[in-house]
Amino acid sequence: MKSTAKAAAHPNIAFIKYWGNQNHDLRIPSNGSLSMNLKGLETQTTVSFDTDLEQDQLIINTESADEGALTRVSTLLDRIRELAEIKTRAQVVSENNFPTGTGIASSASAFAALTLASVTALGLCLSEKELSQLARTGSGSASRSIPGGFVEWQAGIDHDSSFAETIAPAEHWDLVDFIVLVSREHKKTGSSQGHQIADTSPLQKVRVEDAKRRLDICRKALLEKDFPTFAEIVELDSNMMHSVMMTSDPPLYYWQPGTLEIMAAVQIWRSEGLPVCFTIDAGPNLHLICPAEASEAVKRKLGALVNVKSILTSTPGGPARLLEPEITGV
Ligand code: PMV
Repeated sequence: MKSTAKAAAHPNIAFIKYWGNQNHDLRIPSNGSLSMNLKGLETQTTVSFDTDLEQDQLIINTESADEGALTRVSTLLDRIRELAEIKTRAQVVSENNFPTGTGIASSASAFAALTLASVTALGLCLSEKELSQLARTGSGSASRSIPGGFVEWQAGIDHDSSFAETIAPAEHWDLVDFIVLVSREHKKTGSSQGHQIADTSPLQKVRVEDAKRRLDICRKALLEKDFPTFAEIVELDSNMMHSVMMTSDPPLYYWQPGTLEIMAAVQIWRSEGLPVCFTIDAGPNLHLICPAEASEAVKRKLGALVNVKSILTSTPGGPARLLEPEITGV
């Protein structure tokens, strides 16, 4: 007997970043974070619980996934199976329409889509908050890919208090995110390992203590569409996270020469009056954020830089959604 559902979710770009955990198993973060879902980029995932299967199976972009990825998926499936009080194994087939492992948070969209599809396939009726909590246990940033638009993840102190919610819908602010690829190499140290060593940096304590202040400034600037304030706090937050990464044990250096070239260019463009800022996740590639009216000018400027390999363009995206809500078989 088989029961199947399919869901899609967007990745998200954090304006105030999540780095480090209070609790690694449950992925209760050290600080709250704030992000925007990325329209046009998505993971689509089909989950089929099948009584004929002896173990879970995971196929990502048409290839069987490695043991590590499968274990991570099975851990989340176990949590969902426990809720449904079943033991049936599942086949998970997941496809991204954007490059994985390059600092575009594919784990966020992947675990958000996996959560929604699995829960639906098992006929569980969960709230957005409960979906966000569950997705968080797979990948912290996935909690922010469940709600739509501009999203804040309350750090909380335990499973129940740590979840993400929309603070403004996607239509609130016409921002454009140019995802600028300077490298297509798969990153060596993933964020899960990075979170584990964040506390080894002497700067992490300061970063976490100051997080509420940055969140308050960023939230207010976003709600008021105050781009100059928004730009300054987004870059500061990204630089603070990378300072922690570079000073942890072992140190993590994600930036490449191309990353720095573009960071410096963005600083100059903004000082010349072009409203644009950068933010960088756990990889060398950059997200350049600007209001829609500045996007043509930013694109032109980017076209003149030698280190730009390719550019993906995104705008604020909606929540995780079902693609085939009807459940087949039982
Ligand atoms: O959810 P994870 O474990 O992939 O961590 C995400 C970490 C960053 O992308 C660097 C920051 C963030 O808040 O998205």
